[in-house]
Amino acid sequence: MSRVLVIGPGAIGCAVGAALLEAGHEVTFCARHPFERVSVRKAGEAEKTFPAHVVMSEKDSSPADWVLLCVKAHQVPSAAGWLRAAVGPQTKVAVLQNGVEHRERVEPFVPKGVVIVPVIVELPVSRTAPGEVVWHRSAQLAVSGDAAGMEFCRLFAGSFITAETTSDLLTRAWEKLCVNAPGGAILALTGQPMRVFHKSGIADVARAILNECVAVGHEEGARLDEGLIDRQIEAFMKAGPDEGNSMYADRMAGREMEWDARNAVIVRKGARHGIPTPVSAALVPLLAALGPSPA
Ligand SMILES: NC(=O)c1ccc[n+]([C@@H]2O[C@H](COP(=O)([O-])OP(=O)(O)OC[C@H]3O[C@@H](n4cnc5c(N)ncnc54)[C@H](OP(=O)(O)O)[C@@H]3O)[C@@H](O)[C@H]2O)c1
Repeated sequence: MSRVLVIGPGAIGCAVGAALLEAGHEVTFCARHPFERVSVRKAGEAEKTFPAHVVMSEKDSSPADWVLLCVKAHQVPSAAGWLRAAVGPQTKVAVLQNGVEHRERVEPFVPKGVVIVPVIVELPVSRTAPGEVVWHRSAQLAVSGDAAGMEFCRLFAGSFITAETTSDLLTRAWEKLCVNAPGGAILALTGQPMRVFHKSGIADVARAILNECVAVGHEEGARLDEGLIDRQIEAFMKAGPDEGNSMYADRMAGREMEWDARNAVIVRKGARHGIPTPVSAALVPLLAALGPSPA
């Protein structure tokens, strides 16, 4: 049994926390709002419910075996206090976020030398109430195949989540970015669900974002195959017309969005490789302008 702290009990935090409780670990949720139980349900199946140990002050947490960082990418700096309190020299920090910069994002907030495990999350899940989530389709996590990655996978043995190692995490992360960069930006900017892909010119915008993402990903070392762009456009066109995504949900709720990790990253990394990314560069200030106004 490991002692695990989950920072950010949102959709992903509650789902992985419930899985770890199912697997028999001691789990503490570091939260901004209280809840007493964590429950997880696959759409159409019975609910699994566990009592939740929730702390709301860094003073009530101490170094754990594992910290699972499940806040959104732009919320990492706000979780710095939790990381300071929960990460000791032996703690391993798993970063369950989208994007391709898991390490860079978290390194400034943990002691030098602490093991950071980037996690690719294939777990479409929605939070229906504090501590309560529903997941759809797949429940998979992927990490690299080093010792820490293998230890991370063992944490989930006996739970509803499958955690697996991959020999090419970089490619997996960029493949995921190829879904998130166009999908998130287009739904957030238009304020419309997936049906918007059937409107004139929208698939072309997606293709232009994908071309930039793939070009930059290649330079970063990701092995993105020739057919990826066509397959992704097809997937957007086939998606349920009322389906959303998390940038869309955040936009509709007036919350800050994860555009830096999904779109600005293409511009940032493109500039390092001398690859022009004019479409992504145009999206970034538009997405930023949708966020809450500066005080
Ligand atoms: N949801 C999915 O289906 C899915 C799938 C794949 C990947 N991902 C990725 O997984 C990551 C997490 O996404 P999510 O959907 O779980 O987001 P989410 O539902 O918004 O959850 C984030 C949680 O972090 C909490 N939080 C933020 N700052 C905090 C702080 N300083 N201290 C404590 N808690 C804090 C939020 O608290 P409040 O409740 O107070 O706002 C919220 O509960 C993102 O990178 C996302 O892109 C999500």
